[in-house]
Amino acid sequence: MPPPTSPPKTYRVKSFGCQMNVYDGERMAELLGGQGIAPAPDGEDADLVVLNTCHIREKAAEKVYSDIGRLRRGDGTSPLIAVAGCVAQAEGKEIMRRAPAVSMVVGPQAYHRLPGMIAEAVEGRRAVDVDMPLETKFDALPARRKVGPSAFLTVQEGCDKFCTYCVVPYTRGAEVSRPFRDLVDEAKRLVAAGAREITLLGQNVNAWRDESNRGLEKLIEALAVIPGLARIRYTTSHPNDMTDGLIAAHRDVPQLMPFLHLPVQAGNDRVLKAMNRSHTAESYLRVIDRVRAVCPDIALSGDFIVGFPGETDAEFDDTVRLVEQVGYAQCFSFKYSPRPGTPAATMADQVPSATMAERLQRLQAALGASQLAFNQAAVGRRCTILVDRAGRDPGQWLGKSPWLQSVHFTGPAAIGDLLEVELTAAGPISLSAVPLEPVRS
Ligand code: 5AD
Ligand code: SF4
Repeated sequence: MPPPTSPPKTYRVKSFGCQMNVYDGERMAELLGGQGIAPAPDGEDADLVVLNTCHIREKAAEKVYSDIGRLRRGDGTSPLIAVAGCVAQAEGKEIMRRAPAVSMVVGPQAYHRLPGMIAEAVEGRRAVDVDMPLETKFDALPARRKVGPSAFLTVQEGCDKFCTYCVVPYTRGAEVSRPFRDLVDEAKRLVAAGAREITLLGQNVNAWRDESNRGLEKLIEALAVIPGLARIRYTTSHPNDMTDGLIAAHRDVPQLMPFLHLPVQAGNDRVLKAMNRSHTAESYLRVIDRVRAVCPDIALSGDFIVGFPGETDAEFDDTVRLVEQVGYAQCFSFKYSPRPGTPAATMADQVPSATMAERLQRLQAALGASQLAFNQAAVGRRCTILVDRAGRDPGQWLGKSPWLQSVHFTGPAAIGDLLEVELTAAGPISLSAVPLEPVRS
């Protein structure tokens, strides 16, 4: 049992993993700020550290224990430590048993209760809260204050799909959509706080439905009329939830950016079935055809897993073939990692690590070529860049194109500007541009 301590004056939130964790991390920071706890200055120890963990792949849990160990200070003391996120949800009690320095373990649906847990921790009491309470954390969190030009907004959480490799349905629970009104209000506050672009987040964002069964396109249409909001994106989508209405929004809503993150995971139907993906390679390609019919220049992105149990060389070849067919603009690709408690973890024929490494290399070569070709095809185009940070040299800026490419240019600009540029050269991960005249919006 840790000794009583004085209330924390400073905090640090370290988020790992997906954009939803980044969003949760920001909201935890706002919550702690609202309790009078200040962010620890860079390079200084914090009195309270929140490790906002990810459980989706690899040895995430082991990493948490080594991070906890690293928090021990030279004099042998540790800050107050809270473990949040999906490892907390999956391994709550185990963390308490193995890491005596941790005083709080809080799951992704319960972190609005952190202030109460901190008060307990200050008294020397340790607490685990991995409930998925009916009261929503979103109602209990403080309003958004200051954000960068590109902000995240979680609209939906959880997943009912149960892909056989994935922990999300267990760590984040069932699919829950936030109410329409709350989201429009939060979006307005984000814009008032400086956002020019909002990315709607959800594990299955395109499964979002409101109380009266309106789909994501209705939310997008409502956000599009918020003055000052120039760009809307959404991620991550499931192929089976790409409705005609949402696809049409890519034609009808100018603020909706021409970008779609649509994971396929594999290109072979036997593997997709074993993954419980509930789509085939062919049906996935048909979804893309429908999207391209209304938005021919859409940038496509995906997630891939190589070495799912039982995957043969020939089955893997189907994945490479699909990549060549689609022409992705960017992608994430991973070696399969058995997740405790998921059906795939106990399947026969786990693929040797060396085979996975080789397949990953081949896949990434194909994806790299696809990405370079996509970028090169954009050279000569004019487009708007949302400036999101300063470059290394004076006058150099970085921003994002509508297709989510990283673009750098030199010229007068400021973070948050929307600038008209011409794309002049392309590499595999970024493009250069020259500014044209400023856009008034
Ligand atoms: N092993 C490897 N990759 C995984 N993903 C999810 N679970 C696993 C796993 N067990 C990948 C999928 C998913 C992305 C967020 O992470 O590609 O789309
Ligand atoms: Fe995981 Fe599949 Fe749900 Fe995506 S759709 S979160 S991969 S279970």
